[in-house]
Amino acid sequence: MSEASAPGKLILCGEHAVVYGQPAIALPLLTIRARAHVAPSASGSGVWIHTPDLDHSWAVIDEPDDPISEVALAMLRHLDIPHADLAITLTSDIPIASGMGSGAAIATALVRALAAHFGHNLTPGEVSALVYTSEQRYHGTPSGIDNTVVAYEQAIWFERRLPKQGHPVAVSEQSSASQPLTAQTQAPGIQPIAVAAPFTLIIGDTGIRSATRLPVGEVRRRWQTNPAHYDALFNQIGTLVLQIKRALVAGDSTMLGPLLNINQALLAEMGVSSPELEYLITAARSAGALGAKLSGAGWGGIMIALTDTDTHEHVSMALRRAGATRVLGTTISTTARR
Ligand code: PMV
Repeated sequence: MSEASAPGKLILCGEHAVVYGQPAIALPLLTIRARAHVAPSASGSGVWIHTPDLDHSWAVIDEPDDPISEVALAMLRHLDIPHADLAITLTSDIPIASGMGSGAAIATALVRALAAHFGHNLTPGEVSALVYTSEQRYHGTPSGIDNTVVAYEQAIWFERRLPKQGHPVAVSEQSSASQPLTAQTQAPGIQPIAVAAPFTLIIGDTGIRSATRLPVGEVRRRWQTNPAHYDALFNQIGTLVLQIKRALVAGDSTMLGPLLNINQALLAEMGVSSPELEYLITAARSAGALGAKLSGAGWGGIMIALTDTDTHEHVSMALRRAGATRVLGTTISTTARR
């Protein structure tokens, strides 16, 4: 019997542009986690997944295309285990489809619990690569940032290596689930970021669930129609991400807020914001947030606001009043503990 967990995540800056080879920065959310519990079951029963939160159970053999089944099967193949009889129970505190990395966290907890059950040690890089398989199902053209930050559990600078310059490849174009994208067979550039001074973010949830692949697909269509304009937006975001990294490493949160605001303006121009996100962002800024932007794929999900000790409470209250369905605070430091 084994148990393992994995954290949620936030994208601080660079979402969407990261799919096109620009850098992005992601942070772990260590206080909300997904958990996997693996227990042996009766001989011949096969592998069963139980998700009590969703009131759903299935045998992986009956639903092999389910993203969770796929991760379990990929992991058993990786461990060279042709047949297993297991009951796997998955639970999570991380809201689904809200930009907090719920899918990647569940898959990571599952991979870790299976590794522990069979007595294997996996590096964060191996865990991340296995989880990437399921991210492809959820996202279509995932950059790999979610599985990376969740597996490494620290603030990271992430750069995807593209197969052809600036060309994200859809799963349907190039690969099947058992055949990873060429884009990711080249290891992404990953660097931990040493955050010099802790900073506090407040997360406001619009309560609108948004499947990542929809805004990602829309950006792709727009980029194909107007590549020059979108490449310019992606490049500007890449430059901002570099400035944000410098601000984090220098411990300069006065620089950070305005840079997050510019990132938001570019995301809105890209077409991935929404009236609900803009409403929460405006409320946070009016209550004294140093900067605010959407986080993740957009069109719903969450926004983040940078606050200091003076504005923290005001901003949280303003977000609740503006209709945020959930308001969480997280302090980011190099160890990223709350
Ligand atoms: O919706 P999320 O939090 O999983 O964020 C997706 C981030 C994107 O950059 C929009 C897509 C990706 O694969 O990086």
